[in-house]
Amino acid sequence: MTIVQFIFNLMDALSYFIRTALPAYLKSLPIPENSAGYAKLTARDYLQLVPFVTTVLLLIYLTFQALLPEDEDDQIKKIEKEPQVNQSLSKDKDKVVHVYDIKDIQPECDKAQNKSVSYCRCWKSKKFPLCDGTHNQHNKDTGDNVGPLVVTNKKE
Ligand code: FES
Repeated sequence: MTIVQFIFNLMDALSYFIRTALPAYLKSLPIPENSAGYAKLTARDYLQLVPFVTTVLLLIYLTFQALLPEDEDDQIKKIEKEPQVNQSLSKDKDKVVHVYDIKDIQPECDKAQNKSVSYCRCWKSKKFPLCDGTHNQHNKDTGDNVGPLVVTNKKE
């Protein structure tokens, strides 16, 4: 059977279900013509309605689930699944920010042997925000490729 034949067979089955089987099933349900008729239904009639009512309620529930925005708990769960870059530094703060004036960096660059200062971008340095080379071990352990931001002052 080719994929085209499979699709045609599937469409035939769907057509049969929608045009014949579903209307026959709905017609067979013991749905009373008015509200007073529900009092006359037997226990067997109610049992016969259970799959239909369950299916309708499930479809309504799934529709609302798809259309309603995520609640806060779902958003938090999603965030918790994402691994955090910062595993240990200043976790009590909302945001870890370091501000350096360019005039403060220049003397550090001048002092350094290679006229540069390296800032950590892996968040694992013991001298954070400066790089201490810990990223090399991190890259070796994880297959990652992070490295520092290097600020140079190579003017002659
Ligand atoms: S130690 Fe973090 S980038 Fe070097």
